[in-house]
Amino acid sequence: MVQWQQTQGRNDLPWQNTRDPYRVWLSEIMLQQTQVATVKDYFARFLDTFPDVAALAAGSQDAVLGLWSGLGYYSRARNLHRCAQQVVQVHGGAFPQDAETLSSLPGIGPSTAAAIASLCFSERVAILDANVKRVVTRVQGFDADVAVAANARALWAAASALLPTPAHAAKDMARYTQGMMDLGAMVCTPKKPLCNVCPVAGACAARKAGDPERYPVRSRK
Ligand code: ADE
Repeated sequence: MVQWQQTQGRNDLPWQNTRDPYRVWLSEIMLQQTQVATVKDYFARFLDTFPDVAALAAGSQDAVLGLWSGLGYYSRARNLHRCAQQVVQVHGGAFPQDAETLSSLPGIGPSTAAAIASLCFSERVAILDANVKRVVTRVQGFDADVAVAANARALWAAASALLPTPAHAAKDMARYTQGMMDLGAMVCTPKKPLCNVCPVAGACAARKAGDPERYPVRSRK
C-alpha cells in the first residue's frame, strides 16, 4: 500500500506535501461532501484570506460563510469557525496531535480526526470514510451490514487490522492513509473495481470470492 501510494497514488494535491494540520483539516472538511476538482479553488481562496488557524478564529462568521458560498452543507463552515476558535482558546493555538482529542472538536468526527492525526502526526489510527469502507470490507470480506450502528466497532477493528505495524508507523502512516484514500477513489471503485492493478488483490477476500461489488453490504442507503 505504502509503495503503491508513492508510485501510483496522488501526490500533488494542494493539501499534500505538508504536515500543517490546519491545511490538512481544512481540506478534509471540504472534501467530506465535495469533489477534489471543486475543492482545489475553494481551498486556495480560503488560505489567501485565512492563512492559519489564528486568522480564521479571528475572522467574522460572515467572511467564513462567504468563502464557503457554493460548497453547500453550511454547518461545515460554522463548525469550522467554532473549531478554529476552540483550537485557539482551549489548545493555545495548536491543533491537538492525537485522534481522540481532535475528535472532541466541533465538526471533527472519528474518521476526520484519524486522517489529521495519521497524515500530520503519524498516529497509528485507521480512517474510515466511504471510500475506505469499501476497501476494508472487500479486503477483509467484512459482510456484516455497515448501515447497522452496532457493526461499527467491528468495522473499525477490521480497518485497524490492516494498518502498518507499530514499528513502521512513524515512517509509513501518512502514506498509508493517503494510499487507502487513493485506492478507494482510483482502483477499488463501487462498480468494476480495477483488481488487476490493485496492490492488495492477492490478500483480498472479495476478490478471491469473485464478487467485490457485493461489498460493502448495506441494508439501507
Ligand atoms: N478525500 C478526502 N481526503 C482526501 C485526500 N487527502 N486526498 C484526496 N482525496 C481526499
